[in-house]
Amino acid sequence: MNTNIGSTPKRELPILARLGLGLVALAILLAPAASFAQAAMKPADIQAAVDAAYAKYKDLKEGKNADYIPALAEVDPNLFGIALVTPDGKVYTAGDIKGQVSIQSISKVFTMAYVMQQSGTDALRDNMGVDATGQVFNSIVAVEQYRGAEMNPMVNPGAITATSMVQGSSRDDVWKKILGIHSDFAGRELGVDQPVFKSEAETNQRNQAIAMLMYAYGHIKENPLQACDIYTEQCAISVNAQDLAMMAATLANGGMNPVTKKQCIDAKYVPNVLAVMATAGMYDDSGKWLYATGLPAKSGVGGGVIAVSPGKFGIAVISPPLDAAGNSVKAQKAITDISVKLGGNPYVSTPAAAKK
Ligand code: DON
Repeated sequence: MNTNIGSTPKRELPILARLGLGLVALAILLAPAASFAQAAMKPADIQAAVDAAYAKYKDLKEGKNADYIPALAEVDPNLFGIALVTPDGKVYTAGDIKGQVSIQSISKVFTMAYVMQQSGTDALRDNMGVDATGQVFNSIVAVEQYRGAEMNPMVNPGAITATSMVQGSSRDDVWKKILGIHSDFAGRELGVDQPVFKSEAETNQRNQAIAMLMYAYGHIKENPLQACDIYTEQCAISVNAQDLAMMAATLANGGMNPVTKKQCIDAKYVPNVLAVMATAGMYDDSGKWLYATGLPAKSGVGGGVIAVSPGKFGIAVISPPLDAAGNSVKAQKAITDISVKLGGNPYVSTPAAAKK
């Protein structure tokens, strides 16, 4: 009896046709997983990419150590280490990954992240801004142009101001929080390179002037010279390439350290952190860098560079000789090569019609 009243009666499909349809449906269901697996980076390919970049640039002699902080001129210019960490916590390295340098401006990322965590994203945007200055990182012209606004936490005025925004009951308490967030991201207790701290503290009159201007224009609310001193100490935190790669990988992994599994900042803040890095992380060469790689990155005058491919990897290279813009020459080349090989550029997409 036909129970499909008012509708077209169902026609039974032969058993073989039903089996065929089932197989097609299964194939459709499994297709995305298969193409994802194909796109996934194989460990041997990652290690090969890291090794190839190391071999290619090991003997490159371009660039020069920073020397406006006297202690940085003394660092071995041949130090060269590459580390890459994936969100599942696998670590790939080449070269000298034990050799430490001072983190310098890379610290700006993690203090900024901490301020977002403590005070939300509007606090930084409304105080010093999140726009590129187009000026060098310690520009006083950039401060003067908008009286300390319309800049970002990756350049010195914005970074010293961000440090001043860390909430704590005393200098000691603020410092503990700053060192703590850096250590959480790295997944180990970090320390300070005291000779570098002393060397910069004795020669940082320009940063002190910048801090005073940011205070004069109301961005730093109190103790500008203390903020400058804490900022100088955070720049002297000692790190190796693996520490830096782990910090970058934590950003690639929604703010959770891939090895310790500690949630260092809420995942919701990570896109904001990466946006500021992309805008201003490579000094006034940030546009060129983004054009070449698509990767949010941050460099420091100690010779380190970190870069983040969201969901794929965090990478870091240490090599002290810098180019004219102040970015490590070998680090930029090595990271670019490795990321191209591993498909790290987050802006790459495939037209839907071309997908099989
Ligand atoms: O404040 C300075 O000049 C150094 N402690 C850090 C400079 C640096 O790495 C530049 N980065 N944007």
